[in-house]
Amino acid sequence: MKIAPSLLSCDFSKMGEEIKRIDKSGADWMHLDVMDGHFVPNITFGAPVIKAVRGFSDKPFDVHLMISEPLKYIDDFSDAGADIITFHIESSSDPEQTIEKIRSRGVKPGLVIKPNTPAKAVFPYLDKIDLVLVMTVEPGFGGQSFMENMLPKVKEIKDECRRLGIDMPVEVDGGIGEGTIAKAAAAGVDICVAGTAVFKANDAAKAIQSLKALCK
Ligand code: DX5
Ligand code: ZN
Repeated sequence: MKIAPSLLSCDFSKMGEEIKRIDKSGADWMHLDVMDGHFVPNITFGAPVIKAVRGFSDKPFDVHLMISEPLKYIDDFSDAGADIITFHIESSSDPEQTIEKIRSRGVKPGLVIKPNTPAKAVFPYLDKIDLVLVMTVEPGFGGQSFMENMLPKVKEIKDECRRLGIDMPVEVDGGIGEGTIAKAAAAGVDICVAGTAVFKANDAAKAIQSLKALCK
């Protein structure tokens, strides 16, 4: 299991240092939650902030766009140093065009589905993307409870990929912690985003280690 700590729960007054600390603590990816106050009822940070902290870690930057028109901003987030850009299928940008744009910038494209969106919504794009992110909370805020009933979507996506002969990593985001990660692992999840569980722990390295241990 890969762990992608969500910087949403870090101390924003020293975001660069927080990234360094989490890098040294065994994080696999850095998960950056971009919210525009329109697609979701919360505002976080944008491309200039990501660009400013990019140099604090060599780990992949997994940029999760919770914004209404992702296509308009792909250049900005690519220039900022994103390695992976995931955007919501529920946003107003054309999925195919947005995927192509991300790919044309040498960045890995991924699609995200909200809790009310069925797994099959991403099926037409599976041969064009590198990652599917299944939300296990309503996007917008950290610290919410894990929606276990989202896990069957992971199997549906994995089954469809197997049928197509595609090896697709599936990520889940929201409510992941010591009490929930084993269920995600059992469902076949490859990457778990964890905000509260990593940043509110006294020792981030220990927190990441025990999350991983619970998946074995
Ligand atoms: C929610 C964000 C998540 C969030 C996860 O909209 O996409 O990445 O920060 O936080 P926890 O792990 O606290 O649920
Ligand atoms: Zn996220």
